[in-house]
Amino acid sequence: MKNDTKNAPIGVFDSGIGGLTVAKELIKTLPGEDIIYLGDTARVPYGTKSGRTVIAYSRSNTEFLISKGIKLLVVACNTASSVSIPSLKAEFDIPVLGVIEPGAKKAVEVTHKNKIGVIGTPSTINSGAYTKAIENLNPDIEVISKPCPLFVPLADEGWVEGEIVERVAEEYLNPIKNSGIDVLVLGCTHYPLLKNTIQKIVGEEITLVDSAQETASQIKQILVNKDLLNDSKTSSERNFYLTDVSDTFISVAGRFLGEKIDKIEMVDIVGTTAQPSL
Ligand code: DGL
Repeated sequence: MKNDTKNAPIGVFDSGIGGLTVAKELIKTLPGEDIIYLGDTARVPYGTKSGRTVIAYSRSNTEFLISKGIKLLVVACNTASSVSIPSLKAEFDIPVLGVIEPGAKKAVEVTHKNKIGVIGTPSTINSGAYTKAIENLNPDIEVISKPCPLFVPLADEGWVEGEIVERVAEEYLNPIKNSGIDVLVLGCTHYPLLKNTIQKIVGEEITLVDSAQETASQIKQILVNKDLLNDSKTSSERNFYLTDVSDTFISVAGRFLGEKIDKIEMVDIVGTTAQPSL
């Protein structure tokens, strides 16, 4: 029974394809683990929706992944992580990890000035989840946060460097840069793609924290601690499911994952699962 569980895949969901940046780090850190990725492309974006709606979406994504026999759930979406982790942990009987706690932990480790910046979608920033997670670890740390909504469509378009994105980045980041922070958390799946531009605008003296990298190492730790590491092989199987597939998806998805995706399956969880009552 234990071996069956060890060999089971890790489930990852995101509101869309941005979570492939987390899958990419998982593949690097845990090359022997099978991964099932669900991108809720039919209902993206989550970053501008209410917490109640995002929790309902997260629940149906989790039900789908659990039906595929996953041993651990990774909520790769920062927005979903910031509002739905307590509900998912209470409702489902598998280990659940979001990206907020790992990102917060890393930021607290690297700050010297006790002043951390956090950028994310409006929903993530409004939830205050990063601020709470950082203050839980060290109440003396001051957190300065800022929503950067235009970064998501820019990354989706592949506009990650150049004059236009730099102009947008300056507008968002100049106030936060001048507030005395020494660490900036990239609190959104899409922002690692803009890392070079963000670093250029804030300057080398500010350390960027990528939640995706830290999440992957924490997942490894959880699997080791629970004796759930798949040590039976060195290569892995990856299955990608989307709730809607657009023409441009394959090329955009390849950019996020950093490798070509050969096969994507479409799944209809949207029409068959309960929608939030409004
Ligand atoms: N995946 C979302 C996040 O990390 C960004 C895209 C969206 O708004 O759904 O917050």
